[in-house]
Amino acid sequence: MMAGEKLPSTRTLAADLGVSRSTVVVIYEQLAAEGYIETAAGTRARVSSGLKSARIEQKPSDSKHARQAAGLSGYGQRLNQLSLPQPPMADPRHINFLYGAIADEDFPTLTWRRLYSRMLTRHQQHLYYRAREGEELLRKEIQGYLMRARGLQCTADQVLIVQGTQQALELCAKLLIDPGNAVVMEEPCYLMARRTFEAAGAKIVSTPVDEQGMVTSALPETRCSLAYVTPSHQFPLGSVMSISRRHALLSWAQRRSSWIIEDDYDSEFRYGLRPVDPLQALDNSGRVIYIGTFSKALSPQLRMGYLVLPPALVTPFRQAKQLADRHAPVLEQSVLAELIRSGAYERHLRKLKRENERRRSAIVEAISRHLGARVRVEGTDSGLHVVVWFKGIPRSAEQQFVDTAKERGVGIWPVTPLYAEGVRFRKERCAGFVLGYASLKVADIDKGIRLLATALP
Ligand SMILES: Cc1ncc(COP(=O)(O)O)c(C=O)c1O
Repeated sequence: MMAGEKLPSTRTLAADLGVSRSTVVVIYEQLAAEGYIETAAGTRARVSSGLKSARIEQKPSDSKHARQAAGLSGYGQRLNQLSLPQPPMADPRHINFLYGAIADEDFPTLTWRRLYSRMLTRHQQHLYYRAREGEELLRKEIQGYLMRARGLQCTADQVLIVQGTQQALELCAKLLIDPGNAVVMEEPCYLMARRTFEAAGAKIVSTPVDEQGMVTSALPETRCSLAYVTPSHQFPLGSVMSISRRHALLSWAQRRSSWIIEDDYDSEFRYGLRPVDPLQALDNSGRVIYIGTFSKALSPQLRMGYLVLPPALVTPFRQAKQLADRHAPVLEQSVLAELIRSGAYERHLRKLKRENERRRSAIVEAISRHLGARVRVEGTDSGLHVVVWFKGIPRSAEQQFVDTAKERGVGIWPVTPLYAEGVRFRKERCAGFVLGYASLKVADIDKGIRLLATALP
């Protein structure tokens, strides 16, 4: 409203808002007392005449924003310039192939509730801060789990509990990157990792990927702080890094004194075949930082993950975690420790893997039935998503296809934003989409793909 403009009468506004007139009278009196409006007996209240200039002063102009941003640290200024991926808007009435979403019914609610209330009512001497590295019980359980499930050998001391992969990446950026340092990334890549390193001032060296994962022959022979990789299931294209490339990457890191960040975000979901050994298990020189998360097996809302650190990095990472937020939430850590200790976690994983295997078969079959030769599918062997290339739709028409799909009641998200380098290293010139299926019912997967076929030009 403009200065001097009349406000609705208290009676009208009360009726419009469905509140009592006395409530509106009290609010008008409060606004008048604070000088926002002027009232006089027998006339309608008005916006104060002095308010216009006050508002102009309070709302900084773009140039004022710019001047204020100049007071930011170098980190703050870089961050201010970055566009970060936001959780996509998914219409709840639609069939959404939303990558990263998990089915609500897949969370082990009853077991979690039982363990949570047990931990909540457990007697403690007092409520005080706990160990910055995380609860010892949980670190031991994770160590045992990684040994059983991933053949990964470490001590519980090497495990640091963090709030998801994201905090692990943030700590890596803080501790391992100075502005101007080179960081090797896959292209296409996990954008949240790339942005984390860019905010730290890293110079990103993008490296192509093919069906054997990152192309190690393209690694730079200059000094790099670190290489970030998703070797068990390249994000987003889904290839598995071959054993020869794993060895090549490890010897490159040793030669160049670089760290390797191994983001093992969804290796629980490998269908048919045994999960491939992590880089960490092949590393003899202490250069691999392994990151695991509970975002895929339990929920991304838990914000629970861990690092397995080379011994030389244990102390600085613990210190950084302490300064970031003291330690991860203790109740959730204790529930998780008991979930793993009791065997319930691995039972849950087996069930979840079966569920997702059914969803994966459903999407692969539906794509072949409804889309057939008009598409090419990648990354079907593991994980919780596939990438589908629509041969007849040009890349420039991706958004248009998203809109048409939306009109048919289907949510899909393009792969293009994950190509941070644009068309460089992009083999497919046609439109591509990342289709996540972990939150969908089998019947909806088939229906969603069928509807998608009707949206084809
Ligand atoms: C490559 C990759 N890493 C990690 C994660 C999980 O991140 P967080 O543990 O922060 O939820 C995701 C989730 O989508 C991912 O795609």
